[in-house]
Amino acid sequence: MDWMRAVRKAGSVATAFRRGGVRGVASSIVRRFRRPSAAGSKATWEGGVPSEVEFWDKYLEARGGTEWAGDFDRRLDPNLPLQPRPAALLPKQAEIRILDVGAGPLTYLGKLHEGRPLHITAVDPLASDYAKVLARHGIEPLVRTQAGAAEELTSKFPPDSFDFVFARNCIDHSYDPFAAINEMIAVVKQGRYVLLEHRVNEGATEHYAGLHQWDFSVAANGDFVIASRGAQVNVTRKCEAICDIACEVVAGNDDGEWLITRIRKK
Ligand SMILES: C[S@@+](CC[C@H](N)C(=O)[O-])C[C@H]1O[C@@H](n2cnc3c(N)ncnc32)[C@H](O)[C@@H]1O
Repeated sequence: MDWMRAVRKAGSVATAFRRGGVRGVASSIVRRFRRPSAAGSKATWEGGVPSEVEFWDKYLEARGGTEWAGDFDRRLDPNLPLQPRPAALLPKQAEIRILDVGAGPLTYLGKLHEGRPLHITAVDPLASDYAKVLARHGIEPLVRTQAGAAEELTSKFPPDSFDFVFARNCIDHSYDPFAAINEMIAVVKQGRYVLLEHRVNEGATEHYAGLHQWDFSVAANGDFVIASRGAQVNVTRKCEAICDIACEVVAGNDDGEWLITRIRKK
C-alpha cells in the first residue's frame, strides 16, 4: 500500500508541475491541506481524476509492481473463486447477476462461485480512460468495465436488476456518496445485498488529496456515517425505510482499518 500511495503522490506532483509549473505545485499543496466544501465536490472530483488515471496507468504498466503483482494476477485469473465476504451474501441460485461499482480497469471480484461462472457487470466513470490505458499496455480484461458513475446507476440499469451489488475503495472517491449508495440500493433486488468495503476515514488519511474527499465510519451506536468538512450524514437513519445496514470494522492487509458495510434492501 505504501508503494501505491507513493506512486499516487509522485504522480500528482508531476501532473501539477506539467500543468502549472511551480505555481501549479503550490496550488496543489494548498488544495491538499484545505478541506473541500461538500457543495464544490463535483469540481474537486474532476480535479482528482488525472491522478487516479495516472495511478492505474502505472499499476498496469508495472503489472502491479513488486508489491501488487499478486493482486494484478488475481484480477486476470478466470478461475479465481469469488472472495468469501461477497460470496456469503449471494442468494442460492444458479444464475447470479453482480454489479461491481467503481470497478477500476480490472474488477477485483473473483469470477467463479461454487464452480459456476458469475455474470459480472463492472462500471466506472473513468472507463474510457481505462480502456486507453489497458490498450496501451496490451492488457485484455476478463470483464470490460463500462462507463458509469455510482450516482447515475438508475439511468443505466432498471431498478431491482442485480442479485448483488459491490463497491470497494471507490464510493469514498465519488462526488456524492449518499446519492451513490441510494442508487446502489435502487438497482439491487429486494431482500438482496449491497456490500461496501472502504478504508475507515480514507479522506482524512489521504489528506483530502485527489479523489479522497470523504470519510466513512461507524458511530458508537453502530450507525453508518459519511462525513466531509464537518458536515455528516447518518446513512443508517436516513435510509432506514428502504434498507437495514450492519457495519463491521476489520483490519486490512497492512493498510489500516476497513469498514465493511452490509446493506440489505427491504
Ligand atoms: C482506488 S480505485 C478502486 C477500484 C476497485 N474498486 C478496486 O477495489 O480495485 C477507486 C475507483 O473509484 C472510481 N470512482 C471515482 N468516482 C466514482 C463515482 N462517482 N462512481 C463510481 N466510481 C467512482 C475511480 O474511477 C476508481 O476507479
